[in-house]
Amino acid sequence: MKNNSLILALDVGDLKTAKKFVQNLKDYIDIFKIGSILFTREGPAVIRMIKRLRKKVFLDLKYHDIPNTVGMAVKSARELGIDMLTIHTSGGFEMMQEAVRNKGKMFLFGVTVLTSIDKKILKFQLGVDRDVKKQVVMLAKMAKMAGLDGVVASGNEIEQIRRACGRNFLILVPGVRPLCEAHGDQKRVVAPSDALRRGANFIVVGRPILKASDPVKITESIIKEMRQR
Ligand code: C5P
Repeated sequence: MKNNSLILALDVGDLKTAKKFVQNLKDYIDIFKIGSILFTREGPAVIRMIKRLRKKVFLDLKYHDIPNTVGMAVKSARELGIDMLTIHTSGGFEMMQEAVRNKGKMFLFGVTVLTSIDKKILKFQLGVDRDVKKQVVMLAKMAKMAGLDGVVASGNEIEQIRRACGRNFLILVPGVRPLCEAHGDQKRVVAPSDALRRGANFIVVGRPILKASDPVKITESIIKEMRQR
């Protein structure tokens, strides 16, 4: 009962724990996300572990730097055999283009406005006097123009991005919560079937699976929910 659209966020403290999750869930999940928590501790060993188990790696380090540095980091990720990678769209058009030039066959996703940033922060701390959704759509359009494969988006923004960027632009939605679960600290959440119905291509789930007493059982129910769209 595999589902190609479900990604597990491996936000765990060490390689051994990560390996246990990948081994237990590899018959259900194809793509495993490594974020800054695990990568800072364990480095490329985690990538090799996932690749040895013949699964795909989504490296979510959200690069944001000058174009040359990001381009070289993207090249390094490509050489490690990464399948999916994130950069910040707010690094600018040139930075995104340099990343695209180096991405090879990797799928490159842009982070638009972080879900922790609201209208007030946008205006008073970042100097952007615009509605969050409008800013998200503007950055998504710029990402598409630069040649990125898609963007990371909250459940609330899927439809607008889909309308603005078309059918072939990929939308990846984190913070998804199965209907049978509590919501933790994620404020803007959507259910798996809901995210897919609105136009998401991938959903990312972390803690509902990682913290479950039976991770296989909750994964099975998430996949079932995903099929109910
Ligand atoms: O545990 P949970 O299901 O909330 O994990 C969601 C994952 O998606 C985490 O790895 C988090 O870093 C990531 N993410 C997010 N919100 C964003 C971008 C990424 O929650 N806007």
